Amino acid sequence: MVTPNFLRELSRREFLGTTAAAGAGLLLTGCGPEAKQSAAAKAFSGKKLNVAIIGCGAEGQVLLESLQVINTINLVAVVDIWEYNLKSNVRRLKDTGFDVKGYRDYEELLANEKNLDAVVVATPDFWHAPITNACLKAGLHVYCEKMMSHTIESARSMVKTMRETGKLLQIGHQRRSNPRYQFALNKLINDAQICGKVTAAQAQWNRTVTNDLTFPKHSEIPPETLAKYGFKDMHQFRNWRWFKGLGKGPLSDLGAHQIDIFNWFFGETPSSVMATGGLDYYKTHEWFDNAMVIYEFPQPDGSTARAFYQVQTTTSAGGGYFEMFMGDEGTIRMSENPSICALWREDRSTKSWDELAGKNYLLATPTPQVADADKVDVRETAPLIKYDIPVSFAKKIHQPHLENFFNAILDKNVKLNCPADEAFRSEYVIHKAVEAVETGQKIKITKEEVEA
Ligand SMILES: NC(=O)c1ccc[n+]([C@@H]2O[C@H](COP(=O)([O-])OP(=O)(O)OC[C@H]3O[C@@H](n4cnc5c(N)ncnc54)[C@H](O)[C@@H]3O)[C@@H](O)[C@H]2O)c1
Repeated sequence: MVTPNFLRELSRREFLGTTAAAGAGLLLTGCGPEAKQSAAAKAFSGKKLNVAIIGCGAEGQVLLESLQVINTINLVAVVDIWEYNLKSNVRRLKDTGFDVKGYRDYEELLANEKNLDAVVVATPDFWHAPITNACLKAGLHVYCEKMMSHTIESARSMVKTMRETGKLLQIGHQRRSNPRYQFALNKLINDAQICGKVTAAQAQWNRTVTNDLTFPKHSEIPPETLAKYGFKDMHQFRNWRWFKGLGKGPLSDLGAHQIDIFNWFFGETPSSVMATGGLDYYKTHEWFDNAMVIYEFPQPDGSTARAFYQVQTTTSAGGGYFEMFMGDEGTIRMSENPSICALWREDRSTKSWDELAGKNYLLATPTPQVADADKVDVRETAPLIKYDIPVSFAKKIHQPHLENFFNAILDKNVKLNCPADEAFRSEYVIHKAVEAVETGQKIKITKEEVEA
């Protein structure tokens, strides 16, 4: 596996020093390059960045929680076409001491706020490209949520505008800035080679049945306004991710996070994809509600590692959401939920994992996975010993990725962890998985076509 060059290494000294301080082997908040960046941010005494958020729905509100605690920015405006979300967010922010203005349209924002430095975009996917392109062209840096767009062409247009304007465009694959994921890739997989040769990967997001989103009766948007912004009615407006032309279904909505991890951890894009899926449960949606996908990832030694991804929206079975990399010496399972993360040592591994635990690569006290290991044929039931990843951080889940974005604006030496051209490579192969579900064909993917 190859570490992308934009991801700077966490030095062993830096890591060990912090870990020793943590005592029990837990590496707490702010390890690695981001720790330095946060220290720089803490000492920051210059002009704060003026920032607006466009789209204050479920995700916008999660992002706002982080934006309120980042001390290098002034939150100056919020934009939302839905009066209900606009008013409630402006009121809440004002109540907590943020002097924000509210706008109903991003063009109104751009026409009125002449001192903006950056915007955060959390609208439905089909609005990402028009808004992002307009903001970049207006001279602003943009943090845009994933998926970049519901079409490959409009995602490509975002990369093009980023290049033409020279402004920063970070895409919201927030795991790329998560210290636990950075540690897993840089230290455990690449440095300690803990998995040995990675031969396969598996990831999933399985979610229980959810009812369609509704809306308070008095909050309805007038039909002409809905039509102006591309929505047929309030049901479609609230449940846009399930409709063609607005989102791209669950492989894009949920799978985007995890298929991005396949690309990032393999340091590669897949050479092919095959998939199946269907709209088998929900009656009020257009996109399929389940899918199973297999990618083939070429490996440096000429072999192939296969990566299986499934998304289910009718069951939370199988451990919820995670990404797992399986090798001939060990397996690592990653998740945004730390309780799902784990490491398993294959019995045949020649590495001393206790020694690695002593060096703080792993959290000690392995947990036996079977009651009586002697009676089990280890060739068939390999993962007998479970360890934990010794990284924990206390920040809100999106905070490190947003901080990376703002730090990159403030300091030219800080590189974005997920610039749009890098995100495009992951998102392109997600679009291809959707195509594979729709056509039932195995699709070849070339190195050239994943480049924007
Ligand atoms: N990174 C993550 O973990 C994560 C998690 C959830 C959602 N997301 C992404 O965040 C985005 C928003 O998802 P959500 O779940 O918050 O959707 P949502 O429907 O809850 O919120 C969207 C908001 O945008 C507003 N809006 C719609 N069109 C607009 C426009 N043209 N201009 C301004 N505002 C507009 C809506 O009124 C609504 O308030 C999506 O791109 C989604 O993929 C990311």
